[in-house]
Amino acid sequence: MLLSIVKVILFCVYAFVRLSKCDGRIILRKNVSVSAVLVFGDSFVDQGNNNYINTLAKANYPPYGKDSPDGKPTGRFSNGKTLSDFLAEALGVKDYLPASLDPLLEDKDLQTGVSFGSAGTGFDQRTSTSLSAIPISAQLDMFKEYIMKLKKNIGEEPANNIITNSIVVVVAGNNDLILTRRLQHDVVAYSNMLIKLVLNFTEEIYTLGVRRIVVFSLPPMGCYPFVRTLVGGPERRCVDKENDIAQLYNNILKQQLQFWATSFPQSRVAYIDYYNPLISIIENPQKYGFDVVDKGCCGTGEVEVAFLCNKLTPTCPDRSKYFFWDGFHPSEEGYKIIVDNILQDLLNNLF
Ligand SMILES: *[C@@H]1O[C@H](CO)[C@@H](O)[C@H](O)[C@H]1NC(C)=O
Ligand SMILES: *[C@@H]1O[C@H](CO)[C@@H](O)[C@H](O)[C@H]1NC(C)=O
Repeated sequence: MLLSIVKVILFCVYAFVRLSKCDGRIILRKNVSVSAVLVFGDSFVDQGNNNYINTLAKANYPPYGKDSPDGKPTGRFSNGKTLSDFLAEALGVKDYLPASLDPLLEDKDLQTGVSFGSAGTGFDQRTSTSLSAIPISAQLDMFKEYIMKLKKNIGEEPANNIITNSIVVVVAGNNDLILTRRLQHDVVAYSNMLIKLVLNFTEEIYTLGVRRIVVFSLPPMGCYPFVRTLVGGPERRCVDKENDIAQLYNNILKQQLQFWATSFPQSRVAYIDYYNPLISIIENPQKYGFDVVDKGCCGTGEVEVAFLCNKLTPTCPDRSKYFFWDGFHPSEEGYKIIVDNILQDLLNNLF
């Protein structure tokens, strides 16, 4: 008993110095602090922005949000928290990251960050158009307005400090490669085209004063329950073709981001591997506390996503045992485990 307490203390001291995990909690080094978390991208990080636009890609009805604080849907594509929430929490900023279009947002909420994410978006304008989502370029415009508002609220200098000490996270690309890619012949050319847009985005963000940028890779799209059902054969296997495309894109993205960063020595750009940690969970569910990884918790779990997952589709009995919440998106527990597994990588790259 005493020995284990001593061990925990020693580990925490070590962790504190190393900016690492301490008994499950992340402790940032004393001189490191994150002012705000600002998120861009698609449904993995949409905190409810799509509630306020005209689109079918919404999640503001039950059973979405079943495990939110008041049990009500929020527009998040999850039973509770999303990637944005767990990242903001892990970085010590706040427990729930609000949607930038939320009309109830108060001035002080802006100071610790918001999400501009919109379900259905992609780097390719055609993707956001076909799914009526907010394009990344428009999310960037929303960010410019956000900065103006911040300056008006608290003054130029304090606002600039918030931006400099913020972390920008971008999670997008899977809608492009699942949907819009079908219009293309050459996956490599299409990936290169998308990655040019990713770099354009990072540069625009940098120009606006952001110094720490986190870019998520593509997840193993071939293992989404919906994709397994559609093209995974009778056994609903992970679809190699989709996973190979994700890996091909990820390899180019990683290289290009590293190369880009060399031209911006004051920046810290973290390429976050969103592929291997998910594959690891899907291949060893028990190790991570999950029973089911090939179906979502909503309805049959095989196809239900967005409006197909609704109050008429019953949910699984134990939501914490399902890695996926619907046919496309991880559950709250799924996101939590993902963030636990990528956080160290993220911190090492940013600080
Ligand atoms: C924090 O302090 C450590 C040790 O003094 C130093 O090496 C590191 O560069 C500092 N980090 C920041 C972000 O100031
Ligand atoms: C990014 O793309 C837009 C639209 O094509 C262009 O106007 C802008 O100059 C580009 N920004 C950078 C930093 O290359």
